[in-house]
Amino acid sequence: MNETYHSRHGAIQESEYVFIEKGLKFFLRDKKEFVSVLEIGFGTGLNALLTANLSQTDGINIVYTALETHPIPEEIWRTLNYSTEKLLFEKLHATAWNEWVTITPQFNLFKREESLQAANLGVQQFDLIYFDAFAPNKQPEMWEHTMLQKISLAMKSGAVFVTYCAKGQLKRDLKSLGLVVESLSGPPGKREMVRAIKI
Ligand SMILES: C[S@@+](CC[C@H](N)C(=O)[O-])C[C@H]1O[C@@H](n2cnc3c(N)ncnc32)[C@H](O)[C@@H]1O
Repeated sequence: MNETYHSRHGAIQESEYVFIEKGLKFFLRDKKEFVSVLEIGFGTGLNALLTANLSQTDGINIVYTALETHPIPEEIWRTLNYSTEKLLFEKLHATAWNEWVTITPQFNLFKREESLQAANLGVQQFDLIYFDAFAPNKQPEMWEHTMLQKISLAMKSGAVFVTYCAKGQLKRDLKSLGLVVESLSGPPGKREMVRAIKI
């Protein structure tokens, strides 16, 4: 696709800002102790790593489901140097797909090797959505209204959706699904990002 997995302005910086600061920490603002996360695109496992780290430091119980159609091969993920926490990162990648795995007492992971298009996400299952698909101009089918509708149905009341993308069409689609949409300042290199809340 000739596309990068993360911002060229800094992968960790972008993930930390969009998904952890504006997503996870925002959801936890009123002292919740449990979060059910759905990530679209497990990719390099960076968002999962940052989330698992927070679950440990803040003592939050997190159950984390991630969809991915093309798991990164071991010879590639072993070369990634996101963290000094090598053991945790390796465990996120090396553990089995398509079953629940306890990564730490606070962090349970289900990596689903399945496309967003094929996945049955159920109804009112998730508190927090990390929508981290490749960009709309590279993979428009991920951003179609029917996909967003499926995700919106799977969100619990009060659930939070975050993405690095701030396209007008995305905002209109999320609004049409009844979500409350906010445009926030983006991470370095991006003017805006989107957060949407299900009421
Ligand atoms: C921007 S990357 C995700 C980065 C990842 N969240 C991370 O922390 O490294 C987008 C991911 O979506 C995956 N993907 C592509 N098509 C998909 C589909 N139809 N359903 C689910 N995931 C898909 C890609 O293989 C890729 O790993």
